Amino acid sequence: MIDRHGEIPKKPVQEPYRTKVVESIRLPSRAEREQLLRDVGYNPFYLKSQDVYIDLLTDSGTGAMSDTQWAALMVGDETYAGSRSYDDFEQTVRDITGYDHIVPVHQGRAGEHLVMQSIARPGGIVLSNTLFDTTRAHVEYRDALPVDLLADIAWDFDEPHPFKGNFDLDKLRAALEHHHGRVSAVVATLVNNLACSSPVSLENMRGVRELADRFGVPVFIDASRFAENAWLVTQREDGQRGRPVADVARDFFALADGCWMSAKKDGLVNIGGFIAVRDDQLADECRQRLVLFEGFPSYGGLAGRDLQALSIGLREALNEDYLRHRVAQIEYLHDGMREIGVPVSTPAGGSGVYVDVARLYPHLNPDDNPGITLIADLYLHGGVRMSAGVFHLTTVDPTSGSLVSRDFSCARLALPRRVYGKAHLDHVIEAMGDVVDGAHESPAYKLVKAPRVLTHFFARFEPVAT
Ligand code: F0G
Repeated sequence: MIDRHGEIPKKPVQEPYRTKVVESIRLPSRAEREQLLRDVGYNPFYLKSQDVYIDLLTDSGTGAMSDTQWAALMVGDETYAGSRSYDDFEQTVRDITGYDHIVPVHQGRAGEHLVMQSIARPGGIVLSNTLFDTTRAHVEYRDALPVDLLADIAWDFDEPHPFKGNFDLDKLRAALEHHHGRVSAVVATLVNNLACSSPVSLENMRGVRELADRFGVPVFIDASRFAENAWLVTQREDGQRGRPVADVARDFFALADGCWMSAKKDGLVNIGGFIAVRDDQLADECRQRLVLFEGFPSYGGLAGRDLQALSIGLREALNEDYLRHRVAQIEYLHDGMREIGVPVSTPAGGSGVYVDVARLYPHLNPDDNPGITLIADLYLHGGVRMSAGVFHLTTVDPTSGSLVSRDFSCARLALPRRVYGKAHLDHVIEAMGDVVDGAHESPAYKLVKAPRVLTHFFARFEPVAT
């Protein structure tokens, strides 16, 4: 079915694992799907998981653990202080990152909270290639301004640049020259989630470090998908091809002063995270807040067994067979979409496939909520859940250095790790084909309930009759 234009579908890399435990999924009927969508106000966050056939809402905390990770849960050490599970975890994170101080937290945003209290200051600026929503919110929570310095090519979904997640170094230079008194940190998000999960090159990271050093500004990494980024570097960057992926990851960490990670992504666990830094004082500050908001420094907000599973997950995420398959799955979905005319961000990156909704629905305006149109269409055609967003970014004019606002919008099919197989991906591509075929008749959606904060989680919509 997927060779709609007579093309032979590309063969994905075979799974480097086999299934030991299964979880049933069911495709509700078309009539049920119509009713369910109406009931939840066309907001995918309100759908129940049993009503979703293939769930591509997020790749965060939705992956499958290995048999080794499940076994490790049983040897978790649940003592309050001095836990052996913490020691294993600390050693693993030290080996991977090279940083001295390792602070466990229950998930990424908890790490952002603890770190931003130290590195974002009122009236200040935090520069980034692009900050994730929660990181941005934690910067704003400190009355500081997040400024995103992704290159203009990131807005062009067809531009085949291998590292569309990079910092635009001209913008970074301009930001530092014109605003350095206000800049308290530079953050590199690897891979760059909001920029279609495109990777950052090692060369770009070196350029970032050099500029930051010139202005005496510390550099941090959002390492949530560090392994996918490092793998893509070994596949795409001159001078890095064929290098061990762990070495490349280590080179990135060496170029920064510290990192935080949502381990729900490349930690291959359902919950977990950490902060890892070189600076003694920053580590002390984070640990003190940790006790207040998360837990004692030997467990953060986690159980000992969670730390045990995470130590193994972090190592498994750097396994090259795993990464080859992971990225090949994303490429398979990306290529399948492109073949049937879906405007997707190319080349494929980490975490999932990103759709240019404005091009898919040229008859709809941004105010018509075309992201909701796509979410509804894909669920109606295939019982597949995805997400969409419009991000209001502040960036820098590279010539004048002035701060300018610019929106970035996209919709995402995020692929959980080690969960779905080729037939599932084919189903998604097929459903997307039906979406494309009927796109010209798809309705606009109007907002009927809009909370002031976190709109996309809690809003409700209605289709507008055409
Ligand atoms: N940083 C990045 C780059 C992320 O993608 C996320 C979460 C976080 C930090 C926050 O981590 O969820 O553990 O608190 N991203 C998820 C997503 C939610 O769907 O992309 P968290």
